[in-house]
Amino acid sequence: MSQIDDGPEHLAGDPAAPDRYSTGVLSHERPTELKRLQALERMADAWSQRVFAERGLRKDWRCLELGAGAGSIARWLSAQCPDGKVVALDIDVRFLDAGWAQNLDVVQGDLRDVEFPPASFDLIHARALMMHLSNPEAVIAKAARWLAPGGWLVLEDPVNFATDSSPHSAWRRIMSALEDALSAQGSDLTWARRRQPTIMGEAGLIELGLTLQPMIVGDGGAVDAFMRLFFDQVGPSLIDQKRVTSDQLAEGLALLDDPQFLDIAHSLLIAWGRRP
Ligand SMILES: C[S@@+](CC[C@H](N)C(=O)[O-])C[C@H]1O[C@@H](n2cnc3c(N)ncnc32)[C@H](O)[C@@H]1O
Repeated sequence: MSQIDDGPEHLAGDPAAPDRYSTGVLSHERPTELKRLQALERMADAWSQRVFAERGLRKDWRCLELGAGAGSIARWLSAQCPDGKVVALDIDVRFLDAGWAQNLDVVQGDLRDVEFPPASFDLIHARALMMHLSNPEAVIAKAARWLAPGGWLVLEDPVNFATDSSPHSAWRRIMSALEDALSAQGSDLTWARRRQPTIMGEAGLIELGLTLQPMIVGDGGAVDAFMRLFFDQVGPSLIDQKRVTSDQLAEGLALLDDPQFLDIAHSLLIAWGRRP
């Protein structure tokens, strides 16, 4: 649990609140954010691409990448769909470049306000985005309308299924501090728990599917690299906010160098559904 009173300016889940993603610890303004997003891509792109392939990705698909971040999935989809097109939307597009591909458009906008014509896309994808929105249900309902008949919505969000059952107290401590800090800025690592398919079903989608990808730490792989960058970026705030001490942070991160340490950070919940 939080060790500090977050104060009214940090209240989570207030639909009237201004966008806190763009101003919080994960803002594109942070000097390390591009590297953090690229590490996220190296960790998760293969997982996302496998789900697209299983949905029958075709050369002529029209794709919408929501919260495109540093753009690797938008770029990859542009190459996979040469006879289709890709729209990459983000509230902050500084890391995206429409010049990467002829069939790629970059759109700056807040997903909560943006509209596209009904039935415009064969694939709509959002990774690590819905958890940052105060009303993901409304956005999912909109996205379902933007799908053409037969089109797929694929949503991926990290969830903290396993953190509190970690046998490593130093790891539990820093992960819990991270989760509390994100929650205080309105980013919810719990909302996706099992609810994504239900919400997609309520939005009229069918052929619902769900899979869970654990983010294994301690093996020296891409998740380790991502978590190190994540803590480099948010660590000073966690200490300032008295969620952890610098010694506790160092102790937790040192586990990543311990050959006997193997654990789970978060898990990525990946859900999909199809417009009839
Ligand atoms: C954690 S990053 C994930 C980036 C990318 N989807 C990935 O997984 O590699 C979340 C992205 O969503 C964008 N974002 C956050 N809130 C948004 C909103 N309301 N509308 C559009 N984009 C938003 C952020 O700017 C950021 O690029």
